[in-house]
Amino acid sequence: MPDFKLAPSILSADFARLGQEVYDVLASGADIVHFDVMDNHYVPNLTIGPMVCRALRDHGVSAPIDVHLMVKPVDRMIEAFIEAGATYVTFHPEASEHIDRSLQLVRDGGCRAGLVFNPATPLNHLDHVMDKLDMILLMSVNPGFGGQSFIPGTLDKLREARRRIDASGCDIHLEIDGGVKVDNIREIAQAGADTFVAGSAIFNARSESDPHHYDAVIQAF
Ligand code: DX5
Ligand code: ZN
Repeated sequence: MPDFKLAPSILSADFARLGQEVYDVLASGADIVHFDVMDNHYVPNLTIGPMVCRALRDHGVSAPIDVHLMVKPVDRMIEAFIEAGATYVTFHPEASEHIDRSLQLVRDGGCRAGLVFNPATPLNHLDHVMDKLDMILLMSVNPGFGGQSFIPGTLDKLREARRRIDASGCDIHLEIDGGVKVDNIREIAQAGADTFVAGSAIFNARSESDPHHYDAVIQAF
């Protein structure tokens, strides 16, 4: 039985109250903070950078922070997020000039490294770097926005990624990102994912009447 982890994507949090939102989801039982970084170049949206990651650490957030870089080029932001207190740094192979070097940069900085695959990006970018990975992240939507629908073909790709991980003998997490909901997470887990990003499904379910705003939805997952 894999050790399943839930990673709320703060892209759908209330940015005006970000510190409290992060505390609330962690207090309700979430495991990891998923931190989406968009540059209006690699993806058509603009979000938050290393200063916000540093601010969360300075605010006392000690949970793992999973930085998903949707930026091009990647290396400068890798260095900045290492300094800012990231735990995982993942990036898209298309956004790096030298994938092996960027992965090494992440690990040399003491962080865990991962590659992210868009729905149409083939898994063969994994071929020569399995031993440099701590995480494989499959996008089940096209990157750039929260609130999109899960692309069903991702399930086969998850099974393929799981086969590759098992065959490698390496200790690599398999994360899924995009359109994850209470009613499809079981099927996604059965296809091989062990780490689940969920943005809108968690933050849009905020319960104003309950002081533990996210207990119900996080328990449902
Ligand atoms: C999209 C981001 C996701 C996004 C997921 O580019 O990488 O992390 O926040 O949002 P939902 O769970 O709403 O699909
Ligand atoms: Zn993400």
